[in-house]
Amino acid sequence: MRSMQMLLFLLLICVGLIAAQSNDLVDCKKHDSDVLLHTKKLERSYQLLRTQESNVVYSNPNAIITCIEVLDQRTDGTGGHPSIQSGGVGHNNVTINVRSQFSRGFEFVINIYGH
Ligand SMILES: *[C@@H]1O[C@H](CO)[C@@H](O)[C@H](O)[C@H]1NC(C)=O
Repeated sequence: MRSMQMLLFLLLICVGLIAAQSNDLVDCKKHDSDVLLHTKKLERSYQLLRTQESNVVYSNPNAIITCIEVLDQRTDGTGGHPSIQSGGVGHNNVTINVRSQFSRGFEFVINIYGH
């Protein structure tokens, strides 16, 4: 019985750790010669009882994107969820969407590399 409780305790710790992660989105095939094309901080403060959404569009006809980093600045798991809507690595443009959790804000740093 005691070991059962111990197991349950460990399980709860694991679940807690998984829930308290930052939600980075990284798609990277970067080479040494690639440069930082664009960097941007994307921030929304919370609004009670609402989810919030924000799109970032980056487009550069003279570049090929090789690496996209969308880095969650909140490490406690309360940040938003980023996704790539269109374009991306191998394209010359990308549309990144970030959606907040219910009644939460978010804070991301976006880095786009390429050549
Ligand atoms: C991204 O590129 C595609 C194809 O090159 C084009 O059809 C699309 O309109 C572009 N989107 C943006 C937001 O520039």
